Amino acid sequence: MQEQHRPNKVAIVGAGNVGATFAYTLLMSGLASEIVLIDRDQARAEGEAMDLNHAAPLLHAARIWAGSYEDCHQAAVTVITAGSAQRPGETRLDLVQRNTQIFKQIVPEVIKHNPAGILLVATNPVDVLSYAAYKISGLPASRVIGSGTILDTARFRYLISQRFGVDPRSVHAYIIGEHGDSEVPVWSLANIAGMRIPDFCAINGYHCDENVLNAIFTSTRDAAYQIIDRKGATYYAIAGGLLRIVEAILRDQATVLSVSSLIDDYYGIHDIYLSLPTVIDVGGVERVVRLGLSPQEIAGLQESASILTATIAQLDLE
Ligand SMILES: NC(=O)c1ccc[n+]([C@@H]2O[C@H](COP(=O)([O-])OP(=O)(O)OC[C@H]3O[C@@H](n4cnc5c(N)ncnc54)[C@H](O)[C@@H]3O)[C@@H](O)[C@H]2O)c1
Repeated sequence: MQEQHRPNKVAIVGAGNVGATFAYTLLMSGLASEIVLIDRDQARAEGEAMDLNHAAPLLHAARIWAGSYEDCHQAAVTVITAGSAQRPGETRLDLVQRNTQIFKQIVPEVIKHNPAGILLVATNPVDVLSYAAYKISGLPASRVIGSGTILDTARFRYLISQRFGVDPRSVHAYIIGEHGDSEVPVWSLANIAGMRIPDFCAINGYHCDENVLNAIFTSTRDAAYQIIDRKGATYYAIAGGLLRIVEAILRDQATVLSVSSLIDDYYGIHDIYLSLPTVIDVGGVERVVRLGLSPQEIAGLQESASILTATIAQLDLE
């Protein structure tokens, strides 16, 4: 008989800054009935579970505990945030060898106890580690998702919204490609109230030349470095991004989100994980949306893909 999953059970591997903040966000949302925290630092996971449980009477009822990999059984989604965090001045790609070794321990354990669930990876470098999780797990690609540029897209929309004085949710724009230095802003499709940004500016009397737009993108791309320099880590916004992905899965929403998934036959890109607007539903990745990109954006996406392909080639994943 095919393994079932419990629709509202979420497992979190890695109860550090990102994992614990996501658990809190998930508890606040009321989406999950069961949240299990797994970490090699068992005391840390226990402390987080205790603290979260004490918030439950004030927020939402949920069963929260610190568990082991056996507790991934029947989780609809297992979110992996375990690994080393980016250190000041370190690129995400520098982390790759260290965190791949960690994934070779974690992913088989999760799959052993939960072959039917969805894996959602946040650990950096997220595109490479999502690809590693796909290869190590043997799961269909639809059930291995990376948080990808959901965070960068949120930062991009926020910064555009601040420039033009509107709610960030009224800005539609995507960052695609690597979650990292080679990511690409899709200015050609960015819009407010259905108008492309240059048209919105011209008609509504805003000044926005190339320098303004470049500054918005640079601040988006470099945000993680800026935050890590100031507070050592980033976790609130990524927790919001993970919640949005998990909500789309648990509620079968078919939401278009910029997440990392297996890309094949897309502007000449093959067999790699990177972010594009993707339809997410109860089965995970339903499909990757085909975009009509400008020649410059296509070149940027292909360059981002080639950087990721070169990194993946350095890993021993067969
Ligand atoms: N994708 C994104 O947009 C995004 C954003 C922020 C952070 N991150 C990444 O998320 C990851 C976690 O960041 P953080 O700030 O929470 O780090 P953290 O150091 O606070 O937490 C990591 C946790 O992983 C645990 N861990 C390490 N190895 C393990 C193993 N083998 N098995 C089980 N648990 C293990 C540690 O004990 C720790 O509790 C990092 O890779 C970071 O770069 C990604």
